Amino acid sequence: MATFAIDADPRLTATDMTRIVELVYRKSGITLHDGKRALVVARLQKRLRALGLPTFAAYVDHVERDATGSEIVALLDAIATNHTYFFREDAHFTFLRTRIAAAHGGAGRPLEIWSAACSTGEEPYSIAITLLGLPSPIEFSILASDLSTRALAAAGAGVYKQSALGDVPRDILRAWFERGLGPQEGLARIAAPVRRCVTFRQLNLLELGELRDSYDVIFCRNVMIYFDRAVQQRVVSALERRLRPGGHLLISHSESLNGVAHSLRWVAPAIYQRGNH
Ligand SMILES: C[S@@+](CC[C@H](N)C(=O)[O-])C[C@H]1O[C@@H](n2cnc3c(N)ncnc32)[C@H](O)[C@@H]1O
Repeated sequence: MATFAIDADPRLTATDMTRIVELVYRKSGITLHDGKRALVVARLQKRLRALGLPTFAAYVDHVERDATGSEIVALLDAIATNHTYFFREDAHFTFLRTRIAAAHGGAGRPLEIWSAACSTGEEPYSIAITLLGLPSPIEFSILASDLSTRALAAAGAGVYKQSALGDVPRDILRAWFERGLGPQEGLARIAAPVRRCVTFRQLNLLELGELRDSYDVIFCRNVMIYFDRAVQQRVVSALERRLRPGGHLLISHSESLNGVAHSLRWVAPAIYQRGNH
């Protein structure tokens, strides 16, 4: 078997960076700015080592040749920003409780929600906790999807550092989290009744063809900031087609649909609604 002398610190050339930027854009829609060089080097070096590849050029060749598609998933896993937290942008959870769930009460079918870039699960679990805590419970289901298999594995496990839960109200912690003991000290796990409300699935927002269903509420927050206008347009059009009449699209308060063509009505900051037809 051939062995390679692996450079302790392979250099990322301008050509390598251009190829990686193009690959990431084509596969995920994410625009990697040159400021991300250090992140690309730090994160992809681990992949080079794991695969025994001597240079970034050899790595990109490997990704492009990989017919299984698993290495592009690993590359995107390494590059994507998964930062998130429970009850992020809490105005959305208030709107869900007081406006959407309240209006859905008599619909005679479950409220169907999709968390379309769910990262490590904090967003869909916050949705579930909000709805489980309603004084008059309603039936609901939550699909939570992301591109990153690494984030989805963490989401499915539902285990978080207690130090990351400092802003979660105490009554919610007591009701819906289990404290880790012994070797699990310092961790907290989402309780089973909350976990059961959420189905996780890997989905790329650029390849939604296989998703036939439509939803009453779509959370698509803090992902479009990584997309340029053309990709935002493509994603918003795809999401709009998967909203039920009267359904709501929730984006982040730091994102905007300015310059994106759509037929949704603005209802509140970062909340849009499809007409009733
Ligand atoms: C910053 S997190 C946002 C998490 C959560 N929605 C929130 O607002 O806190 C962005 C997520 O978008 C995912 N993502 C990036 N490009 C994607 C794509 N093309 N399809 C699906 N998910 C994508 C990343 O893997 C990451 O988990």
